[in-house]
Amino acid sequence: MMLTCLWKVFPFFVISCCLLTNVMLEDDSPVIAKYFNTKGRYEEVNLYLIKDILAVNRSILQPPSAQCQESHLTAIIRHGTRYPTTKIIKDIQQLYSIVLHNASGEDTWLREIQTQWTMWYTEDMDGRLTWKGVNDLKHLAVRLSNLFPSLISEEKLRGGLINFITSSKHRCINSTLAFKAGLTELWDIKDKEFDHAVNDSLMRFFDMCTRFVQEVDKNASAVVEVDKFKQGPEMRRVQEKIADRLRVPYSFITHDMAEAAFYLCAYEFAIKAVNSPWCQLFDEDDAKVMEYASDLREFWKRGYGYDINRKSSCILFHDVFNRLNKAASQNKSGQQVTEAVTVQVGHADTLLPLLTLLGFFKDSEALTSTNYAAQTQRSFRTSHMLPYAANLLLVLYDCGEGDLRLQPLLNEKPVTFPGLTDQRASMPLYQDVREHYRELLQGCDFENECQLFKHPAEV
Ligand SMILES: *[C@@H]1O[C@H](CO)[C@@H](O)[C@H](O)[C@H]1NC(C)=O
Ligand SMILES: *[C@@H]1O[C@H](CO)[C@@H](O)[C@H](O)[C@H]1NC(C)=O
Ligand SMILES: *[C@@H]1O[C@H](CO)[C@@H](O)[C@H](O)[C@H]1NC(C)=O
Ligand SMILES: *[C@@H]1O[C@H](CO)[C@@H](O)[C@H](O)[C@H]1NC(C)=O
Ligand SMILES: *[C@@H]1O[C@H](CO)[C@@H](O)[C@H](O)[C@H]1NC(C)=O
Ligand SMILES: *[C@@H]1O[C@H](CO)[C@@H](O)[C@H](O)[C@H]1NC(C)=O
Repeated sequence: MMLTCLWKVFPFFVISCCLLTNVMLEDDSPVIAKYFNTKGRYEEVNLYLIKDILAVNRSILQPPSAQCQESHLTAIIRHGTRYPTTKIIKDIQQLYSIVLHNASGEDTWLREIQTQWTMWYTEDMDGRLTWKGVNDLKHLAVRLSNLFPSLISEEKLRGGLINFITSSKHRCINSTLAFKAGLTELWDIKDKEFDHAVNDSLMRFFDMCTRFVQEVDKNASAVVEVDKFKQGPEMRRVQEKIADRLRVPYSFITHDMAEAAFYLCAYEFAIKAVNSPWCQLFDEDDAKVMEYASDLREFWKRGYGYDINRKSSCILFHDVFNRLNKAASQNKSGQQVTEAVTVQVGHADTLLPLLTLLGFFKDSEALTSTNYAAQTQRSFRTSHMLPYAANLLLVLYDCGEGDLRLQPLLNEKPVTFPGLTDQRASMPLYQDVREHYRELLQGCDFENECQLFKHPAEV
């Protein structure tokens, strides 16, 4: 309350004091911030970063022996915090107009929206990287250089041993530039620039996979469970509660309007770090329903819903293992590892099929329109998996005498390859990982998988 009042009277003072002390982020998060799906802040999955955005704890790595040394790192990273897309901005405009012209009541938050909030989103922002998004990647670069100092080092960067690949989308290119800037600013490098390659076959494989595009992405019936949930009792209740809070007819708050309100709260928080009055349209139960609707969509469009979703990432899967193999064999045969680090910047849509292909976050039951209550403990939660700047790190270790190990980390936390849990700590033998994924390594052919199925009659 105090902070809200100050904000109104002395906005400049509050901003400057918060930049110095960094307290606002901690004290003023929306209660529902942990349910924002792919619109969530990275800090939400690593809360210690709120206090210190550059904090790193090297002891989480725990290699099996002191001899182990990092020999290669592949980092697959989602772009940083972005603006809403044009479609969502149009929905936000419509919602704002409803609240401005049709809502009534004496609530403080409502009056705040009606008298102080301004519609500052413009359609040309369309998904671009924000200033916060630039910092997401700069900070990540600095943290990774502290976590893997022998790999992400000034010497290796100058020596051309760090390779950058990005999706062609502007927000990804700018995220790649930001990651590089994080390193060059850290080491004060001014005499040299570092290249990146744009490769959509690799980072936007989902657009190139004909079968996926036809059968899932452009196929309205592929998301029938999502549509049913949007029309089901849980979602209807959320929409009615929003309409009640605004005192507008129920028909005004469609699912699109509820979603616009939810994302508005998320965007205001992710981009500007403010606990916006729009967040008051939801309580925690409502947020969980909104979160589920979005997870349901990701499940059917990018996750376990259809086999082609994960198979569309075969090209990236093989690319990753080719790099690991090359580094492993160079190291074994006494050559220098020529690609110490690969930084690959893409989308949530890039990471999710790959995580699914590798078997992460698989629940025993599919997410459907009718099992919301049974899925409260699900592991398939995009809020945890895919915030802005989400990253999958694969670190190859040389523990001497041909003992190579591979450690996966998701969002800077060690994870275990599903099905390989008996392994010592989280760092299995590279050979065992290859054995575990043998079928995929021998098959999973992008061209084959992505071909449209031909019925015998058509051949
Ligand atoms: C660092 O990680 C180790 C191992 O997980 C843990 O025991 C320790 O408490 C952590 N240290 C800090 C400062 O968080
Ligand atoms: C909503 O507001 C618009 C614009 O002022 C007005 O034309 C319309 O009649 C209102 N609808 C209701 C149901 O209040
Ligand atoms: C990328 O950065 C450039 C230069 O900073 C800027 O002009 C452009 O608008 C940015 N594009 C996106 C999509 O963020
Ligand atoms: C993109 O990456 C794939 C897989 O590594 C490779 O075959 C292809 O040549 C690359 N394309 C470009 C344009 O670099
Ligand atoms: C669309 O999806 C449905 C449900 O999976 C499927 O039965 C149908 O064959 C798909 N249509 C196309 C054109 O692939
Ligand atoms: C293999 O990797 C380890 C760890 O980086 C390094 O100490 C060793 O020199 C490498 N071997 C070769 C031949 O490059």
